[in-house]
Amino acid sequence: MTSLAKQNFASVVEDAVNQQINLEMIAAHTYLAIAAYMGADAVALPGFEKYFREQAQEEREHAQILMDYQNRRGGRVIIQTIPAPTSEWQSAKNAVESALQLEKDVNKSLLRIESLAEEHHDANFANILRSQFLKEQVHSIAEIAKLVTQLNRVGGDGLGLYLLDQTLLKEGVSAVVGN
Ligand SMILES: [Fe+2]
Repeated sequence: MTSLAKQNFASVVEDAVNQQINLEMIAAHTYLAIAAYMGADAVALPGFEKYFREQAQEEREHAQILMDYQNRRGGRVIIQTIPAPTSEWQSAKNAVESALQLEKDVNKSLLRIESLAEEHHDANFANILRSQFLKEQVHSIAEIAKLVTQLNRVGGDGLGLYLLDQTLLKEGVSAVVGN
């Protein structure tokens, strides 16, 4: 199938879009796993469960935006295998720390794709990456980093953790970390 729309869209950039779609889906899967961990009876943190379920949804939306973009540019969407995420964490704090690392990995990948787009003079894609994806990624990293700090503050267990989780559940993440 040949695209009529394709213009100034390098095949390495097209491949990178598919890789990023896969990475966003890996993030979605990982957040579903973290949400399930938080909801287990031995963990019982409904605020964190809700937060990570919402994060999973956001990651799916990122993948969807990139799929739509790939089609708009005349590229071909290739859905790849999503490996099973870890489902073993030592603690809620440990799970949130792994989410922070994941967001940093996603950011690294987006930065790599942005320079690839620039290298191929793909102004449209570079602009979308900068104005939407990289901007949001910096926000997510800061948000999750603050969640880790709050978890460190409350000592990762006991009444402090209960109160932190309840605030997350009832008032949302901005009540815990600001904007
Ligand atoms: Fe994302």
